[in-house]
Amino acid sequence: MENFVVSARKYRPLGFDEVVGQEHITTTLKNAIDNNKLAQALLFCGPRGVGKTTCARIVARMINGFEEKAEINSLNIFELDAASNNSVEDIRNLIDQVRYPPQFGKFKVYIIDEVHMLSNSAFNAFLKTLEEPPSYAIFILATTEKHKVIPTILSRCQIFDFNRIQVSDISKQLKKVADREKIKVEEEALHLIAQKADGALRDGLSIFDLMVTFSSGQAVTFKDVLNNLHILDYDYYFQVVDGLLAENHTQPLLLLDEILRKGFDAHNFIVGLSEHLRNLLVSQDARTIQLMEVPDITKQKYMDQSGSTSPSLLLSWLNIANQCDINYKSSKNQRLLVELALMKMAHVQSVVKGNGALPAQEGLKKKVN
Ligand SMILES: Nc1ncnc2c1ncn2[C@@H]1O[C@H](COP(=O)(O)OP(=O)(O)OP(=O)(O)O)[C@@H](O)[C@H]1O
Ligand SMILES: [Mg+2]
Repeated sequence: MENFVVSARKYRPLGFDEVVGQEHITTTLKNAIDNNKLAQALLFCGPRGVGKTTCARIVARMINGFEEKAEINSLNIFELDAASNNSVEDIRNLIDQVRYPPQFGKFKVYIIDEVHMLSNSAFNAFLKTLEEPPSYAIFILATTEKHKVIPTILSRCQIFDFNRIQVSDISKQLKKVADREKIKVEEEALHLIAQKADGALRDGLSIFDLMVTFSSGQAVTFKDVLNNLHILDYDYYFQVVDGLLAENHTQPLLLLDEILRKGFDAHNFIVGLSEHLRNLLVSQDARTIQLMEVPDITKQKYMDQSGSTSPSLLLSWLNIANQCDINYKSSKNQRLLVELALMKMAHVQSVVKGNGALPAQEGLKKKVN
């Protein structure tokens, strides 16, 4: 069997220009390096899989003047995973190494990953070295949990906060990988994967690999991804809203039943429906359309459906959905709560028209008479 390299490793950026969605950081780092103003202690904070280790390695390569795009050059780069090496001993070993200047290149770069895992005594043993490192040593600490790093360390580092990566950026990156690997994939499928990745590009790439394996040579489709990741098809929400617009609660209730029978959670459904209503609301104005994190093809669908609604109706629906969401956890009959919300939404227009308590038809008649 040929050795399979996962995409997350195969496509680890080798230069700042390939790093996605962290421009504020890559620009600052690049300028600092170009102007010889790089601090000796840096702290990279942010969620998992967004490019911290990647950027640390790029910095290490650049300041040593190693060929920027060359494969990992481990010379002068020392990586310590503090999650598994968190004792004072480990830090003492590291400090011992720091004493010797580099044999090649100008700098020795120490990358300490998951630095919040260091024990207290290890932290303390490290402080002095961090405060006054030899001129050739650069420390890059990385953590997903900045609040667990003690203030004495924080105050000795220049801090870089990494962003979660936006759905559209993850999706674009996946498309690049798919093209490079000559894999056919539907745009909506990529988008779904990107959403599931929840801000982490590494997760996006891992899910992508999984889907490629599943499709074994065939195109990766939206439907495959939906089924494999157990995601509710947003087409359901379009159908539910069609029912609500017709002031008919039958169809939404039947759809809810179908969704629950497929094993989806009613709470997720109501949260998803709220999101859908919010998307309809923002798609009513050209300026807010960009607030929707959906592929371009889907945007058109939202604009079409929102054409049949009014902002006040959408707001009434959103209020009902929101109340349902808030009360969900404490309700004894959660299914009924969601059904009730759907029924209220279906009839909110006629109730308003009918001035409150009476059903639509009678209410209207009363007004006419
Ligand atoms: N901003 C990004 N641009 C391009 N690729 C990225 C980015 N972030 C992550 N990746 C991809 O995900 C992989 C893992 O990223 P990296 O190791 O830098 O994450 P990390 O932030 O250090 O995560 P962790 O907190 O889990 O250590 C990379 O090899 C790369 O393929
Ligand atoms: Mg890392």
